[in-house]
Amino acid sequence: MPVITCIDDLKRLHKARTPRMFYDYAESGSYSEQTFRDNSTDFARIRLRQKVAVDMSGRSTASDMVGLPVAMPVGLAPVGLTGMQHADGEILAARAAEKFGVPFCLSTMSICSIEDVAQHTTKPFMFQLYVMKDQDFLAAIIERAKRANCNALVLTLDLQILGQRHKDLKNGLSAPPKFTLPTMLDLATRWRWGMGMLQTKRRFFGNIVGHAKGVGDASSLGSWTAEQFDEKLDWDKIARIRDMWGGKLILKGILDPEDARIAADFGADAIVVSNHGGRQLDGALSSIRMLPHIVEAVGDQVEIHMDSGIRSGQDVLKALALGAHGTWIGRAFVHGLGAMGEAGVTRALEVIRAELDTTMALCGEKRVQALGRQNVMLPQGFL
Ligand code: FNR
Repeated sequence: MPVITCIDDLKRLHKARTPRMFYDYAESGSYSEQTFRDNSTDFARIRLRQKVAVDMSGRSTASDMVGLPVAMPVGLAPVGLTGMQHADGEILAARAAEKFGVPFCLSTMSICSIEDVAQHTTKPFMFQLYVMKDQDFLAAIIERAKRANCNALVLTLDLQILGQRHKDLKNGLSAPPKFTLPTMLDLATRWRWGMGMLQTKRRFFGNIVGHAKGVGDASSLGSWTAEQFDEKLDWDKIARIRDMWGGKLILKGILDPEDARIAADFGADAIVVSNHGGRQLDGALSSIRMLPHIVEAVGDQVEIHMDSGIRSGQDVLKALALGAHGTWIGRAFVHGLGAMGEAGVTRALEVIRAELDTTMALCGEKRVQALGRQNVMLPQGFL
């Protein structure tokens, strides 16, 4: 068992153990990847304020997200094709999250279906929805999420059209993937992954294949999804989905203070300040830079979460200090999954919690709720 001390260790193992096509799918941003890079580098520009001679005993990272108790305010964000990084990936990640006491959110574009994950876990999880044009599919998937006892619906608003990721096109990553000779050779040499996929009994895109009209098998999936993202999405449609769902609603992909105001007036239970991990609007500012503006606009009206760029407990602390009530990680847990399956996701969470705990102590804070602007120094021009 390799010694894993940070998320970067898991990333290196993920790269070594997973076929290139799937690693690249996770570790890329859209177009020039400017926003993808900024998400990380802007975290690094924020500095922490060290405090000494403060009683740091009895600390706790415990908090809540949309009213649910959490061991630390860090959830596993919805990630499409998680089951490609490791056989049964969504189930393994959901299990790691429930044992750790943090939220897991299943993507619409997952390999394991809502029912698969519900059957193999014991606690409720969240479900992420992309708004599709097919109204029957939309109504049915919301019903399936209710039947599976999902405890919140995360509605993603920043992907009604796909930002191009160059590597995916070059690697032939599509739904289903196109296998060329080089990719076949790559798959064959990553025997560990290959064995895992052979063992899996899950269907490809379990939430969609067999559940949408005209999608009987994976071969018809690509064209269906390409034309199903609803480019006409507007607040009336979001209101209809809220009514159909009836439970807790989190709006994900808000990056603009004006949109945040509309979302807060709309009555969302939480919003996620996010640029989709730099995978959509290339050239947008990083989430961590937009966070303070959104907190200033609606911080007293709605619970604010953020994601995009978090790779450590220090990053989590910085987001909380700038006003986020909760955070989400995407690639940080996917690296763990691709590296070591469920144990890798658990390790990613352990690493982040230990970093958060130590950093809180050195900043002189005992509770995550007490973190604030007093703990950070922002570089000139950051705001
Ligand atoms: C995503 N993300 C995403 N979001 C969503 O709402 N539905 C989805 O299906 C996906 N799929 C997806 C795939 C991959 C490979 C990645 C990396 C991300 C975005 C995700 O929920 C989250 O916003 C980002 O991952 C956060 O950025 P970091 O933590 O990866 O930097």
